[in-house]
Amino acid sequence: PRPIILTRHGQSQDNVRERVGGDSVLSEAGEVYSKKLAKFLEKRLKSEKTASIWTSTLQRSILTANPIVGFPKIQWRALDEINTGVCDGMTYEEIKRNMPEESILREKDKLRYRYLRGESYLDIIQRLEPVIIELERQQAPVVVMSHQAVLRALYAYFADKPLKEIPFLEVPLHTIIEIQMGVSGVEEKRYKL
Ligand code: F6P
Repeated sequence: PRPIILTRHGQSQDNVRERVGGDSVLSEAGEVYSKKLAKFLEKRLKSEKTASIWTSTLQRSILTANPIVGFPKIQWRALDEINTGVCDGMTYEEIKRNMPEESILREKDKLRYRYLRGESYLDIIQRLEPVIIELERQQAPVVVMSHQAVLRALYAYFADKPLKEIPFLEVPLHTIIEIQMGVSGVEEKRYKL
């Protein structure tokens, strides 16, 4: 059975400053992760004839894939992080301070809350549909290098998690989630690098 390997990008400069959205490059720790990840994948995929690397169109995702050589890379806009609309570039504190009503609405219903001029988790689930169809058609392993909210939704699909849990699933930085579809259901392994 072919594995699907999910990982967030290496830590970005916006992660360090705790800002949502943006299109920043990697921090030093993020760069270290991108190199460790390349080594891990080289070993993990050595026995596979083919594999492909899917990234989002954001710099932090593309840069994380940079040190990986020998596999085709495909950029998907559908793998871009949740669009935080007018909140793009703000910290959670700043959102709370400047738009307290929005903060409260999101806390009340994180799954359905749509950022002003941006997206909700439900929007993400919808835009992931073509990605999921393509993933299911693949015969070879796929490495998906994406972002927290998007990977929560993608992981939930394969791990069969209920909709209401999606915005709260644990998808930490610098962690590889390997999913295997076997006859007896889905198997999961996590590696912290
Ligand atoms: O903080 C990193 C990040 O990927 C942000 O860009 C994004 O807005 C956020 O995580 C999504 O997580 P949550 O829905 O918990 O705010």
